Amino acid sequence: VFAQNKVTLSGDLGKHTINKHIYGHFAEHLGKCIYGGLYVGENNTKIPNKDGVRMDVVNALKKMKIPNLRWPGGCFADTYQWKDGIGPKANRPKIVNVWWGNVTEDNSFGTHDFLNMCELIGTEPYLAGNVGSGTVKDLADWVQYVNFKGVSPMSDLRAKNGRENPWKVRYWGVGNEAWGCGGNMKPDYYANIYRQYATFMNASFENNERLFRIASGASDNDYNWTETLMREIPHNMLEGIAMHHYSVIDWKQKGPSTTFTEELYFKTMKEALLMDELVKRHSTIMDKYDPAKKVALVVDEWGGWYDVEPGTNPGFLFQQNTMRDAVLAGATLNIFHKYCERVRMANLAQVVNVLQSVILTNEEKMILTPTYHVLEMYNVHQDATMLPVEVQSNDYTFGNEKLPAISVSASRDKNGAVHVSLVNIDPNKAQEITINVTGVNASGVTGRILTSAKVQDYNTFENPNKIQPAAFSGASLKNNTLTVKLPPVSVVVLELK
Ligand code: AHR
Repeated sequence: VFAQNKVTLSGDLGKHTINKHIYGHFAEHLGKCIYGGLYVGENNTKIPNKDGVRMDVVNALKKMKIPNLRWPGGCFADTYQWKDGIGPKANRPKIVNVWWGNVTEDNSFGTHDFLNMCELIGTEPYLAGNVGSGTVKDLADWVQYVNFKGVSPMSDLRAKNGRENPWKVRYWGVGNEAWGCGGNMKPDYYANIYRQYATFMNASFENNERLFRIASGASDNDYNWTETLMREIPHNMLEGIAMHHYSVIDWKQKGPSTTFTEELYFKTMKEALLMDELVKRHSTIMDKYDPAKKVALVVDEWGGWYDVEPGTNPGFLFQQNTMRDAVLAGATLNIFHKYCERVRMANLAQVVNVLQSVILTNEEKMILTPTYHVLEMYNVHQDATMLPVEVQSNDYTFGNEKLPAISVSASRDKNGAVHVSLVNIDPNKAQEITINVTGVNASGVTGRILTSAKVQDYNTFENPNKIQPAAFSGASLKNNTLTVKLPPVSVVVLELK
């Protein structure tokens, strides 16, 4: 029954690096992501913090090795006036968050707060500029404010606000979802707008280092968007082009995040695995205009999107996180590894308390979700050399439909250790996998597993460690044949030594 799962792993054919930036995250002014999630205010005496930033969250993100963090949105970014969020906090204007629940916020978390927090975590900031309702000057000023070392109006203002040295922000989004909440633009129009904004976003970086400018990209399979941008924007002013894909069953009825049926589970996984086709087809279009692959494909929003938890504000997008999310994350990262030559950055939405979060907080309590554990287990692949795998998988069938049950990727790190990540999305059957390994000099295998009895299982504030990684003993290596037995809904990372 199990014999069909066959994998070949070519340890001698590694050419491309898995850019660590595909392990990026996303923090928007949305619900309890910033306020209550990352930031609790300087005067909070109950929750340990540094300048208002929660230390429990900072330490967890450090341990997970978060390479970059995108901020302040999302849809919020195209309403954000960054100058509202600098200077003495008491003087900052209160604004209404029109996209997310019409709540009033006091701008107490602004540019300094975010960039200092990134330094504390040890992660690279990725700022999303306001193109939809801002001006070219606003965005050019923001670049100068955070990046310029010499004397200038904006760097002087920065120093006056307490920060002498620039932060050196490399990653910049030129708007967000310009086809929708970022301005409902058509692709030709946005391509022109991009050219205009990007022109004034390159002058001020230190040591002639170039900014990494990312164009607002396609939604899902809008291939015309990618084609138009690649054709109309000169590639010397375009470092990356975005794409967003959420695993959502139906925008009108997204289904519960914990009490879902197997049918809903199957549909979510079908949407998640669609990432392979999306990335492949957007990349093919990019190849046509950029065969040398200079422009990166940046999947700067991805993840599972379900109905909000019962009783919570619908505008806050707060959802629980189960083993469904764990296998979704593992399978998606395996896809990014496969296309790592073109996909060089990605951002899971969103980091705390919103959509597929790695962390959930409730006042002073914090839990790590199953998705957190997958990203932490997988971080061995960051900046490692991708080793090609060919996978022949059993089917996971539901009704008349089927999906590949297993997903696999592999890499060799800087110390020569080979890691193999495996996912079994089948909630009913274990999968035995035979991997024919060539070009790897190893005599043993160790590993870790994340699994639970039911795909609906999750961690709660009362039982925070119900799901956590454990040592894995279901793999053996003999004469270049690696045999692995994956339990239903499981994620495994192996090390060959
Ligand atoms: O992540 C939530 C929202 O989804 C973002 O603000 C937006 O860019 C996308 O539509």
